[in-house]
Amino acid sequence: MTRKIYVVYGSLTGNTRKVARAMAETVGATLVDVRREALPKVGPEDVVFVGDGVYGGRPSQAMRRALSAWALPMGIKAAVFGTYGGRPSQLAILEKILQGKGAQVVDRFSCLGRDWFLLGLVGRGRPAQEDLQAAREFAKKVVG
Ligand SMILES: Cc1cc2nc3c(=O)[nH]c(=O)nc-3n(C[C@H](O)[C@H](O)[C@H](O)COP(=O)(O)O)c2cc1C
Repeated sequence: MTRKIYVVYGSLTGNTRKVARAMAETVGATLVDVRREALPKVGPEDVVFVGDGVYGGRPSQAMRRALSAWALPMGIKAAVFGTYGGRPSQLAILEKILQGKGAQVVDRFSCLGRDWFLLGLVGRGRPAQEDLQAAREFAKKVVG
């Protein structure tokens, strides 16, 4: 059985999408936008990256809804990522949801993303090239 890699992401204003794309390109993953596509059926050898922005301290409702209906094989390798304006508090929540489904969350990554809730004043130019490079390294490390 060949191992598949998925980058499942949510993105309201485009920041997390940039990070998701950089990661998926690097490791040859299938990108899945939770607002547009159904979550994939995954096998025990697959790897899943799950990422979102943080909105009012948590992941988007679209992401929480999608994850609640997602079945994962016990022990599947997972990693969480995201962008934020102040604090990446969505990561711990994503991690908890995935662990509750039996996934093994091996690592996490976050970087600043331009914050349109604060009129774009915070995080201008982010994620920057350096952030995307760090995301690529993260993805490679997780996949191993
Ligand atoms: C409606 C809204 C609420 C937000 N709430 C938070 C928050 O509670 N904490 C935080 O650190 N950033 C917050 N942000 C900033 C975003 O998390 C940040 O800009 C992130 O990069 C957005 O990702 P996206 O472009 O993929 O949607 C908020 C942004 C928006 C638009």
